Amino acid sequence: MGAVTARIQAPKGTHDLLPPESEKFAAVEATARRVFGAHGYGEVRTPTFESTELFAGSVGETTDIVHKEMYTFLDRKGRSLTLRPENTAGVVRALVEKGIQDVPKPIRLWYAGPQFRYEQPQAGRYREFRQIGVELLGVPSAAGDAEVLAMLFAFLGELGLTDLIATVNCIPKGEARAAFSRALQEHVRPHAGSLGADDRKRLDENPLRLFDSKDPETRRILEGAPATLEFLDDASRAHHEELKNLLPRLGVRFVESAGIVRGIDYYTLTVFEVASERLGAQNAILGGGRYDGLVADLGGPPTPAVGFAIGEDRLVEAMTSDVRPPRTLFAVIPDGPAEFLYALGVAGEIRRLLPDAVVESDLLGRGIGKGLGRASQFAAHPDRHAARIARVNAVLLGSREREADTVTLKDLATGAQATFPRAQLPERLAGRER
Ligand code: HAM
Repeated sequence: MGAVTARIQAPKGTHDLLPPESEKFAAVEATARRVFGAHGYGEVRTPTFESTELFAGSVGETTDIVHKEMYTFLDRKGRSLTLRPENTAGVVRALVEKGIQDVPKPIRLWYAGPQFRYEQPQAGRYREFRQIGVELLGVPSAAGDAEVLAMLFAFLGELGLTDLIATVNCIPKGEARAAFSRALQEHVRPHAGSLGADDRKRLDENPLRLFDSKDPETRRILEGAPATLEFLDDASRAHHEELKNLLPRLGVRFVESAGIVRGIDYYTLTVFEVASERLGAQNAILGGGRYDGLVADLGGPPTPAVGFAIGEDRLVEAMTSDVRPPRTLFAVIPDGPAEFLYALGVAGEIRRLLPDAVVESDLLGRGIGKGLGRASQFAAHPDRHAARIARVNAVLLGSREREADTVTLKDLATGAQATFPRAQLPERLAGRER
Protein backbone atom coordinates (compact mmCIF):
# COMPACT_ATOMS: atom_id res chain seq x y z
CA MET A 1 0.00 0.00 0.00
CA GLY A 2 1.34 3.44 -0.90
CA ALA A 3 1.88 6.05 1.76
CA VAL A 4 -0.93 8.52 2.22
CA THR A 5 0.78 11.82 1.51
CA ALA A 6 -1.98 14.28 2.45
CA ARG A 7 -3.66 13.24 5.66
CA ILE A 8 -7.40 12.82 5.13
CA GLN A 9 -9.55 15.01 7.31
CA ALA A 10 -13.18 14.82 8.36
CA PRO A 11 -15.47 16.59 5.86
CA LYS A 12 -16.18 20.26 6.61
CA GLY A 13 -19.02 20.73 9.06
CA THR A 14 -18.76 17.27 10.63
CA HIS A 15 -17.25 16.42 13.97
CA ASP A 16 -16.02 13.18 15.43
CA LEU A 17 -17.19 12.09 18.83
CA LEU A 18 -14.54 10.30 20.83
CA PRO A 19 -14.58 9.44 24.55
CA PRO A 20 -15.33 11.16 26.85
CA GLU A 21 -17.45 13.38 24.54
CA SER A 22 -19.22 10.39 22.96
CA GLU A 23 -20.11 9.09 26.42
CA LYS A 24 -21.83 12.39 27.24
CA PHE A 25 -23.99 12.00 24.14
CA ALA A 26 -24.78 8.42 25.14
CA ALA A 27 -25.75 9.57 28.65
CA VAL A 28 -28.05 12.28 27.24
CA GLU A 29 -29.67 9.69 24.96
CA ALA A 30 -30.06 7.28 27.89
CA THR A 31 -31.81 10.07 29.82
CA ALA A 32 -34.10 10.68 26.83
CA ARG A 33 -34.96 6.99 26.67
CA ARG A 34 -35.73 6.93 30.39
CA VAL A 35 -37.79 10.16 30.57
CA PHE A 36 -39.66 9.71 27.28
CA GLY A 37 -40.12 6.00 27.97
CA ALA A 38 -41.75 6.84 31.29
CA HIS A 39 -44.29 8.90 29.33
CA GLY A 40 -45.10 5.98 27.02
CA TYR A 41 -42.93 7.05 24.08
CA GLY A 42 -41.19 4.29 22.10
CA GLU A 43 -38.13 4.73 19.94
CA VAL A 44 -38.48 5.07 16.16
CA ARG A 45 -35.60 4.75 13.70
CA THR A 46 -36.06 5.75 10.10
CA PRO A 47 -33.56 5.77 7.21
CA THR A 48 -30.95 8.52 7.06
CA PHE A 49 -31.85 9.06 3.41
CA GLU A 50 -35.28 9.39 1.85
CA SER A 51 -36.77 10.21 -1.53
CA THR A 52 -36.06 13.88 -2.21
CA GLU A 53 -39.73 14.64 -2.89
CA LEU A 54 -40.60 13.75 0.73
CA PHE A 55 -38.93 16.92 2.01
CA ALA A 56 -40.14 19.18 -0.78
CA GLY A 57 -43.71 18.14 0.07
CA SER A 58 -43.45 18.48 3.86
CA VAL A 59 -40.71 20.86 5.04
CA GLY A 60 -41.65 22.96 1.98
CA GLU A 61 -40.20 23.96 -1.37
CA THR A 62 -39.55 27.59 -0.36
CA THR A 63 -37.91 26.92 3.01
CA ASP A 64 -34.17 27.46 3.41
CA ILE A 65 -33.79 23.80 4.29
CA VAL A 66 -35.21 22.50 1.00
CA HIS A 67 -34.16 25.43 -1.12
CA LYS A 68 -30.46 25.46 -0.30
CA GLU A 69 -29.43 23.14 2.52
CA MET A 70 -30.16 19.61 1.35
CA TYR A 71 -27.63 16.94 0.50
CA THR A 72 -29.32 15.59 -2.61
CA PHE A 73 -27.82 13.02 -4.95
CA LEU A 74 -28.76 10.51 -7.62
CA ASP A 75 -28.15 6.87 -6.75
CA ARG A 76 -26.80 4.40 -9.30
CA LYS A 77 -30.25 3.89 -10.76
CA GLY A 78 -30.85 7.62 -11.12
CA ARG A 79 -33.27 8.00 -8.16
CA SER A 80 -33.09 11.36 -6.40
CA LEU A 81 -32.33 10.78 -2.73
CA THR A 82 -31.66 13.24 0.10
CA LEU A 83 -29.85 12.83 3.40
CA ARG A 84 -32.58 13.71 5.88
CA PRO A 85 -32.37 17.34 7.05
CA GLU A 86 -34.86 16.56 9.84
CA ASN A 87 -36.79 13.53 11.07
CA THR A 88 -40.47 14.47 11.33
CA ALA A 89 -41.14 13.90 7.63
CA GLY A 90 -39.48 10.47 7.76
CA VAL A 91 -41.44 9.43 10.86
CA VAL A 92 -44.75 10.44 9.26
CA ARG A 93 -43.77 8.74 6.00
CA ALA A 94 -42.99 5.54 7.93
CA LEU A 95 -46.33 5.62 9.79
CA VAL A 96 -48.34 6.28 6.62
CA GLU A 97 -46.47 3.47 4.87
CA LYS A 98 -47.20 1.08 7.74
CA GLY A 99 -50.88 2.04 7.77
CA ILE A 100 -51.29 4.75 10.42
CA GLN A 101 -55.07 4.22 10.48
CA ASP A 102 -54.47 0.81 12.12
CA VAL A 103 -52.00 2.03 14.75
CA PRO A 104 -53.77 2.68 18.11
CA LYS A 105 -53.86 6.39 19.02
CA PRO A 106 -52.26 8.32 20.48
CA ILE A 107 -48.98 7.34 18.83
CA ARG A 108 -45.99 8.33 20.98
CA LEU A 109 -42.53 8.17 19.41
CA TRP A 110 -39.04 9.54 20.05
CA TYR A 111 -35.80 9.37 18.12
CA ALA A 112 -32.14 10.29 18.28
CA GLY A 113 -29.94 10.41 15.23
CA PRO A 114 -27.91 12.34 12.69
CA GLN A 115 -29.44 14.94 10.37
CA PHE A 116 -27.75 16.74 7.48
CA ARG A 117 -27.95 20.34 6.34
CA TYR A 118 -25.58 22.14 4.02
CA GLU A 119 -25.09 25.22 6.18
CA GLN A 120 -22.11 27.47 6.73
CA PRO A 121 -20.37 25.80 9.70
CA GLN A 122 -19.81 27.90 12.82
CA ALA A 123 -20.00 27.46 16.57
CA GLY A 124 -22.87 25.06 17.24
CA ARG A 125 -23.76 24.75 13.57
CA TYR A 126 -22.74 21.67 11.66
CA ARG A 127 -23.49 19.96 8.36
CA GLU A 128 -23.97 16.67 10.14
CA PHE A 129 -25.60 17.19 13.51
CA ARG A 130 -27.68 15.12 15.86
CA GLN A 131 -31.25 15.62 16.97
CA ILE A 132 -33.28 14.12 19.78
CA GLY A 133 -36.94 14.45 18.91
CA VAL A 134 -40.44 13.51 19.94
CA GLU A 135 -43.64 13.12 17.94
CA LEU A 136 -47.13 12.72 19.43
CA LEU A 137 -49.79 11.83 16.84
CA GLY A 138 -53.54 11.58 17.19
CA VAL A 139 -54.16 14.17 19.94
CA PRO A 140 -56.02 17.24 18.59
CA SER A 141 -56.33 19.23 21.83
CA ALA A 142 -53.90 21.61 23.48
CA ALA A 143 -53.38 18.93 26.15
CA GLY A 144 -51.14 17.19 23.59
CA ASP A 145 -49.00 20.31 23.12
CA ALA A 146 -48.87 20.67 26.91
CA GLU A 147 -47.79 17.06 27.48
CA VAL A 148 -44.98 17.41 24.97
CA LEU A 149 -43.74 20.70 26.44
CA ALA A 150 -43.95 19.48 30.04
CA MET A 151 -42.05 16.32 29.08
CA LEU A 152 -39.43 18.44 27.34
CA PHE A 153 -38.97 20.52 30.50
CA ALA A 154 -38.72 17.33 32.59
CA PHE A 155 -36.04 15.99 30.24
CA LEU A 156 -33.98 19.19 30.22
CA GLY A 157 -34.41 19.45 33.99
CA GLU A 158 -32.86 15.99 34.39
CA LEU A 159 -29.87 17.30 32.45
CA GLY A 160 -29.43 20.12 34.94
CA LEU A 161 -31.08 22.83 32.82
CA THR A 162 -33.60 24.44 35.08
CA ASP A 163 -33.70 28.13 34.11
CA LEU A 164 -35.84 27.37 31.09
CA ILE A 165 -38.37 29.51 29.34
CA ALA A 166 -40.48 28.57 26.33
CA THR A 167 -41.50 31.05 23.64
CA VAL A 168 -44.86 30.10 22.19
CA ASN A 169 -46.77 31.34 19.17
CA CYS A 170 -49.81 30.22 17.23
CA ILE A 171 -49.81 30.22 13.43
CA PRO A 172 -53.20 30.50 11.73
CA LYS A 173 -54.29 27.66 9.47
CA GLY A 174 -56.57 27.29 6.47
CA GLU A 175 -58.36 30.44 5.31
CA ALA A 176 -57.03 32.42 8.28
CA ARG A 177 -53.47 31.58 7.20
CA ALA A 178 -54.23 32.74 3.66
CA ALA A 179 -55.60 36.02 5.04
CA PHE A 180 -52.50 36.45 7.19
CA SER A 181 -50.25 35.81 4.17
CA ARG A 182 -52.14 38.43 2.15
CA ALA A 183 -51.87 41.00 4.94
CA LEU A 184 -48.16 40.29 5.21
CA GLN A 185 -47.73 40.77 1.46
CA GLU A 186 -49.61 44.07 1.62
CA HIS A 187 -47.35 45.24 4.43
CA VAL A 188 -44.10 44.25 2.73
CA ARG A 189 -44.89 44.94 -0.95
CA PRO A 190 -44.27 48.72 -0.77
CA HIS A 191 -40.70 47.88 0.36
CA ALA A 192 -40.16 45.11 -2.22
CA GLY A 193 -37.48 47.18 -3.95
CA SER A 194 -35.18 46.92 -0.94
CA LEU A 195 -35.56 43.14 -0.54
CA GLY A 196 -32.89 40.70 -1.67
CA ALA A 197 -33.66 38.16 -4.40
CA ASP A 198 -34.46 35.34 -1.94
CA ASP A 199 -36.83 37.48 0.09
CA ARG A 200 -38.59 38.83 -3.01
CA LYS A 201 -39.26 35.22 -4.00
CA ARG A 202 -40.57 34.53 -0.50
CA LEU A 203 -42.82 37.57 -0.70
CA ASP A 204 -44.49 36.18 -3.83
CA GLU A 205 -44.54 32.48 -3.09
CA ASN A 206 -44.67 31.99 0.69
CA PRO A 207 -44.68 35.26 2.66
CA LEU A 208 -44.58 33.51 6.06
CA ARG A 209 -41.04 32.46 5.21
CA LEU A 210 -40.00 36.13 5.25
CA PHE A 211 -39.80 35.69 9.03
CA ASP A 212 -36.89 33.27 8.50
CA SER A 213 -34.85 35.95 6.72
CA LYS A 214 -31.57 36.96 8.32
CA ASP A 215 -31.36 40.11 6.16
CA PRO A 216 -31.41 43.11 8.53
CA GLU A 217 -33.41 45.16 6.03
CA THR A 218 -36.14 42.49 5.82
CA ARG A 219 -36.17 42.21 9.59
CA ARG A 220 -36.62 45.96 9.86
CA ILE A 221 -39.53 45.92 7.39
CA LEU A 222 -41.17 43.11 9.38
CA GLU A 223 -41.05 45.06 12.63
CA GLY A 224 -44.43 46.67 12.06
CA ALA A 225 -45.90 43.66 10.24
CA PRO A 226 -49.30 42.18 11.13
CA ALA A 227 -49.11 39.62 13.95
CA THR A 228 -50.07 35.97 13.56
CA LEU A 229 -52.22 36.05 16.68
CA GLU A 230 -54.54 38.70 15.24
CA PHE A 231 -55.56 36.35 12.43
CA LEU A 232 -56.55 33.25 14.38
CA ASP A 233 -60.02 31.85 13.76
CA ASP A 234 -62.15 31.07 16.83
CA ALA A 235 -61.16 27.41 17.11
CA SER A 236 -57.46 28.21 16.77
CA ARG A 237 -57.71 31.02 19.32
CA ALA A 238 -59.43 28.65 21.75
CA HIS A 239 -56.64 26.09 21.24
CA HIS A 240 -54.00 28.72 21.94
CA GLU A 241 -55.81 30.06 25.03
CA GLU A 242 -56.20 26.53 26.36
CA LEU A 243 -52.48 25.89 25.95
CA LYS A 244 -51.62 29.15 27.73
CA ASN A 245 -53.89 28.08 30.55
CA LEU A 246 -52.34 24.60 30.88
CA LEU A 247 -48.63 25.40 30.65
CA PRO A 248 -48.10 27.30 33.93
CA ARG A 249 -50.07 24.64 35.80
CA LEU A 250 -47.59 22.06 34.54
CA GLY A 251 -44.60 24.12 35.58
CA VAL A 252 -43.74 25.25 32.05
CA ARG A 253 -42.59 28.88 32.11
CA PHE A 254 -43.38 30.62 28.85
CA VAL A 255 -43.79 33.90 27.03
CA GLU A 256 -45.94 34.50 23.99
CA SER A 257 -44.29 35.94 20.90
CA ALA A 258 -45.85 36.64 17.53
CA GLY A 259 -42.36 36.80 16.06
CA ILE A 260 -41.54 33.11 16.02
CA VAL A 261 -42.73 31.35 12.90
CA ARG A 262 -39.99 28.70 12.53
CA GLY A 263 -38.52 27.80 9.18
CA ILE A 264 -40.66 24.80 8.23
CA ASP A 265 -43.95 24.82 6.29
CA TYR A 266 -45.75 21.95 8.02
CA TYR A 267 -46.42 23.85 11.24
CA THR A 268 -50.03 24.75 12.05
CA LEU A 269 -51.16 26.48 15.27
CA THR A 270 -48.65 26.00 18.09
CA VAL A 271 -44.96 26.64 17.47
CA PHE A 272 -42.38 26.95 20.21
CA GLU A 273 -38.75 27.37 21.09
CA VAL A 274 -37.06 26.97 24.44
CA ALA A 275 -34.17 29.03 25.70
CA SER A 276 -32.05 28.87 28.79
CA GLU A 277 -30.18 31.83 30.21
CA ARG A 278 -27.14 29.65 30.44
CA LEU A 279 -27.40 28.61 26.80
CA GLY A 280 -27.49 32.16 25.52
CA ALA A 281 -29.75 33.37 22.77
CA GLN A 282 -27.42 32.89 19.83
CA ASN A 283 -28.30 29.34 18.96
CA ALA A 284 -31.72 27.79 19.43
CA ILE A 285 -31.30 24.43 21.08
CA LEU A 286 -34.67 23.17 20.00
CA GLY A 287 -37.78 23.89 18.04
CA GLY A 288 -41.16 22.31 17.71
CA GLY A 289 -44.82 22.68 17.11
CA ARG A 290 -48.04 21.23 15.84
CA TYR A 291 -48.38 19.86 12.31
CA ASP A 292 -52.03 18.86 11.91
CA GLY A 293 -51.91 18.73 8.10
CA LEU A 294 -48.75 16.71 7.46
CA VAL A 295 -50.08 13.15 7.75
CA ALA A 296 -52.81 13.92 5.19
CA ASP A 297 -50.33 15.78 2.96
CA LEU A 298 -48.20 12.62 2.86
CA GLY A 299 -51.15 10.44 1.89
CA GLY A 300 -52.54 9.32 5.27
CA PRO A 301 -55.87 10.05 6.97
CA PRO A 302 -56.13 13.49 8.64
CA THR A 303 -54.24 13.06 11.93
CA PRO A 304 -53.31 15.88 14.31
CA ALA A 305 -49.74 15.83 15.59
CA VAL A 306 -47.23 17.80 17.64
CA GLY A 307 -43.53 17.37 18.39
CA PHE A 308 -40.11 18.92 18.80
CA ALA A 309 -36.46 18.27 18.02
CA ILE A 310 -33.49 19.26 20.15
CA GLY A 311 -30.09 19.94 18.60
CA GLU A 312 -28.12 17.39 20.61
CA ASP A 313 -24.70 18.84 19.76
CA ARG A 314 -25.77 22.27 21.00
CA LEU A 315 -27.37 20.74 24.05
CA VAL A 316 -24.26 18.80 25.07
CA GLU A 317 -22.01 21.83 24.43
CA ALA A 318 -24.19 23.94 26.69
CA MET A 319 -24.54 21.47 29.53
CA THR A 320 -22.47 22.12 32.60
CA SER A 321 -23.53 19.14 34.65
CA ASP A 322 -22.08 15.72 33.90
CA VAL A 323 -24.96 13.29 33.36
CA ARG A 324 -22.76 10.25 33.04
CA PRO A 325 -23.36 8.01 36.07
CA PRO A 326 -20.46 8.18 38.58
CA ARG A 327 -18.44 4.96 38.65
CA THR A 328 -15.54 3.45 40.51
CA LEU A 329 -12.48 2.62 38.49
CA PHE A 330 -10.47 -0.49 39.36
CA ALA A 331 -7.10 -0.24 37.67
CA VAL A 332 -5.76 -3.79 37.67
CA ILE A 333 -1.98 -3.58 37.37
CA PRO A 334 0.10 -6.69 36.65
CA ASP A 335 3.76 -6.08 37.37
CA GLY A 336 4.91 -7.81 34.17
CA PRO A 337 3.78 -10.19 31.41
CA ALA A 338 4.00 -13.16 33.81
CA GLU A 339 1.04 -11.66 35.70
CA PHE A 340 -1.17 -10.87 32.66
CA LEU A 341 -3.27 -14.03 32.90
CA TYR A 342 -3.67 -13.65 36.65
CA ALA A 343 -4.69 -10.01 36.15
CA LEU A 344 -7.28 -10.82 33.50
CA GLY A 345 -8.80 -13.42 35.81
CA VAL A 346 -8.94 -11.06 38.82
CA ALA A 347 -10.39 -8.27 36.61
CA GLY A 348 -13.16 -10.59 35.42
CA GLU A 349 -13.96 -11.53 38.99
CA ILE A 350 -14.24 -7.89 40.11
CA ARG A 351 -16.55 -7.15 37.15
CA ARG A 352 -18.82 -10.00 38.16
CA LEU A 353 -18.89 -8.77 41.78
CA LEU A 354 -19.39 -5.07 40.89
CA PRO A 355 -21.29 -4.82 37.60
CA ASP A 356 -21.39 -1.00 37.70
CA ALA A 357 -17.66 -0.57 38.21
CA VAL A 358 -15.14 0.08 35.44
CA VAL A 359 -12.40 -2.55 35.65
CA GLU A 360 -9.47 -2.20 33.30
CA SER A 361 -6.23 -4.10 33.11
CA ASP A 362 -2.94 -2.39 32.39
CA LEU A 363 -1.49 -4.80 29.84
CA LEU A 364 1.75 -3.00 29.00
CA GLY A 365 3.87 -4.90 31.53
CA ARG A 366 5.72 -1.74 32.49
CA GLY A 367 5.78 -2.41 36.21
CA ILE A 368 3.55 -1.50 39.12
CA GLY A 369 5.03 1.97 39.56
CA LYS A 370 4.15 3.19 36.05
CA GLY A 371 0.76 1.48 36.16
CA LEU A 372 -0.03 3.25 39.41
CA GLY A 373 1.04 6.54 37.84
CA ARG A 374 -1.53 6.14 35.09
CA ALA A 375 -4.26 5.21 37.59
CA SER A 376 -3.44 8.31 39.68
CA GLN A 377 -3.92 10.43 36.55
CA PHE A 378 -7.54 9.37 36.44
CA ALA A 379 -7.91 10.09 40.16
CA ALA A 380 -6.56 13.63 39.55
CA HIS A 381 -8.34 14.23 36.20
CA PRO A 382 -11.52 12.12 36.15
CA ASP A 383 -12.65 13.96 33.00
CA ARG A 384 -9.92 12.26 30.96
CA HIS A 385 -11.66 8.93 31.18
CA ALA A 386 -14.54 7.78 28.95
CA ALA A 387 -16.52 7.07 32.11
CA ARG A 388 -17.19 9.56 34.89
CA ILE A 389 -14.77 8.30 37.48
CA ALA A 390 -15.78 9.04 41.06
CA ARG A 391 -13.14 6.96 42.82
CA VAL A 392 -10.05 5.01 41.83
CA ASN A 393 -8.80 1.74 43.32
CA ALA A 394 -5.63 0.06 42.13
CA VAL A 395 -5.29 -3.72 42.19
CA LEU A 396 -1.59 -4.50 42.36
CA LEU A 397 -0.53 -7.92 41.16
CA GLY A 398 3.15 -8.84 41.38
CA SER A 399 4.83 -12.24 41.45
CA ARG A 400 4.13 -12.54 45.18
CA GLU A 401 0.39 -12.05 44.71
CA ARG A 402 0.32 -14.46 41.75
CA GLU A 403 2.20 -17.19 43.64
CA ALA A 404 0.23 -16.85 46.87
CA ASP A 405 -3.13 -16.28 45.07
CA THR A 406 -3.57 -12.96 46.83
CA VAL A 407 -4.56 -9.46 45.79
CA THR A 408 -3.20 -6.07 46.90
CA LEU A 409 -5.92 -3.43 46.86
CA LYS A 410 -5.03 0.26 47.15
CA ASP A 411 -7.60 3.02 47.50
CA LEU A 412 -6.08 6.02 45.74
CA ALA A 413 -8.29 8.49 47.57
CA THR A 414 -7.11 7.48 51.05
CA GLY A 415 -3.86 5.70 50.21
CA ALA A 416 -5.03 2.71 52.30
CA GLN A 417 -3.58 -0.54 51.05
CA ALA A 418 -4.18 -4.18 52.02
CA THR A 419 -3.09 -7.58 50.77
CA PHE A 420 -5.56 -10.45 51.20
CA PRO A 421 -6.45 -13.84 49.68
CA ARG A 422 -8.21 -13.58 46.33
CA ALA A 423 -11.05 -15.65 47.78
CA GLN A 424 -11.85 -12.69 50.06
CA LEU A 425 -12.63 -10.37 47.13
CA PRO A 426 -16.43 -10.55 47.65
CA GLU A 427 -16.34 -9.24 51.23
CA ARG A 428 -13.43 -6.84 50.64
CA LEU A 429 -15.22 -5.24 47.68
CA ALA A 430 -18.66 -5.03 49.28
CA GLY A 431 -19.79 -1.40 49.22
CA ARG A 432 -17.01 -0.26 46.89
CA GLU A 433 -19.16 0.03 43.80
CA ARG A 434 -19.57 3.80 43.98
P1 HAM B 1 -35.66 22.65 13.46
O1 HAM B 1 -36.05 23.87 14.19
O2 HAM B 1 -35.35 22.78 12.01
O3 HAM B 1 -36.88 21.65 13.67
O4 HAM B 1 -34.42 21.96 14.17
C1 HAM B 1 -34.46 21.66 15.55
C2 HAM B 1 -33.13 21.92 16.19
O5 HAM B 1 -32.08 21.22 15.51
C3 HAM B 1 -32.66 23.36 16.15
O6 HAM B 1 -33.29 24.13 17.16
C4 HAM B 1 -31.18 23.21 16.41
O7 HAM B 1 -30.90 23.09 17.79
C5 HAM B 1 -30.85 21.91 15.73
N1 HAM B 1 -30.17 22.20 14.46
C6 HAM B 1 -30.72 22.57 13.29
N2 HAM B 1 -29.77 22.79 12.36
C7 HAM B 1 -28.59 22.55 12.96
C8 HAM B 1 -27.21 22.58 12.54
N3 HAM B 1 -26.87 22.90 11.29
N4 HAM B 1 -26.25 22.28 13.44
C9 HAM B 1 -26.56 21.96 14.73
N5 HAM B 1 -27.84 21.89 15.17
C10 HAM B 1 -28.84 22.19 14.31
C11 HAM B 1 -36.97 20.40 13.16
O8 HAM B 1 -36.05 19.80 12.67
C12 HAM B 1 -38.34 19.78 13.35
N6 HAM B 1 -38.34 18.44 12.73
C13 HAM B 1 -38.72 19.71 14.81
C14 HAM B 1 -40.05 19.09 15.03
C15 HAM B 1 -40.32 17.83 15.42
N7 HAM B 1 -41.21 19.71 14.87
C16 HAM B 1 -42.19 18.87 15.13
N8 HAM B 1 -41.66 17.70 15.44
